[in-house]
Amino acid sequence: MNSPSGVRCATIKTDPYIKMEELDILLQQIDKDRLPRHVAMIMDGNGRWARSRGMERSNGHSEGVVSVRRVTELSSDLGIGYLTLYAFSTENWNRPDAEVETLMHLIGWAIEQELPDLKRNNVRIHLIGDIDRIPEGPRRRLLDARDQTAGCTGLQLMMCLSYSARWELTRAARTLAARAASGEIDAASISEEDIAASLATAGIPDPDLLIRTGGEYRISNFLLWQIAYSELYFTPTLWPDFDKAEYAKAIIDYQSRERRFGKTSDQVTSK
Ligand code: FPP
Repeated sequence: MNSPSGVRCATIKTDPYIKMEELDILLQQIDKDRLPRHVAMIMDGNGRWARSRGMERSNGHSEGVVSVRRVTELSSDLGIGYLTLYAFSTENWNRPDAEVETLMHLIGWAIEQELPDLKRNNVRIHLIGDIDRIPEGPRRRLLDARDQTAGCTGLQLMMCLSYSARWELTRAARTLAARAASGEIDAASISEEDIAASLATAGIPDPDLLIRTGGEYRISNFLLWQIAYSELYFTPTLWPDFDKAEYAKAIIDYQSRERRFGKTSDQVTSK
């Protein structure tokens, strides 16, 4: 697959048969009855992946699209309900103009390329973030993909673009304050449910598992409200190297955890 900048996308790093065998072994270890319902991902490390190969950072982003395809495919194949990808943050607008332009172009191009497969696989695209800030060309492609997949009932794929949790929480605070000021709701009665319903992710269950690639231990303004009880998984693997086997390892690790939601171990293990 070639991106608009002529960047080579699909790379096979090891013998594909060995990789397939490793993946099969890992997939057999996944308990299909205890899958995370919702997985969120901070896709980090594209720039370092490219630089370490003497390439431009944009090559890392192009290669990152291949990883997006892989995690979408595996999520869909396993029957995971929701996948949320942090594709472009509010803070990413501060990157050099050329990188922002390349990323926007790439995202628009990738979504257009993938649309037939997404529809065939019953994947529904949701756009989360300040989408009006996205330049017209890619925005049109994104909105088109969202509209064309609106009836899809399989994997719900949330693409966070021009998104940050503080943007989202500020917007929710303004909405609730305006409703209280107009007398529609009582400010003293605003509940956690009211706040959740005012977020860009209204109606979507909170992530069970949050994966961050690229070796950093940060949340970077992502889903701050929604990840209150998510299991966190950090891996040094750079996003373009995050393949299905790496994803399977994260799910297996998630399944080894005891989720207590503030209760004691005895409470959650006794029926
Ligand atoms: C972070 O790596 C990655 C991004 C800011 C962009 C992620 C976008 C993609 C993978 C393309 C997404 C495409 C679709 C269709 C969703 P970085 O550049 O911060 O890497 P570094 O930490 O190594 O510099």
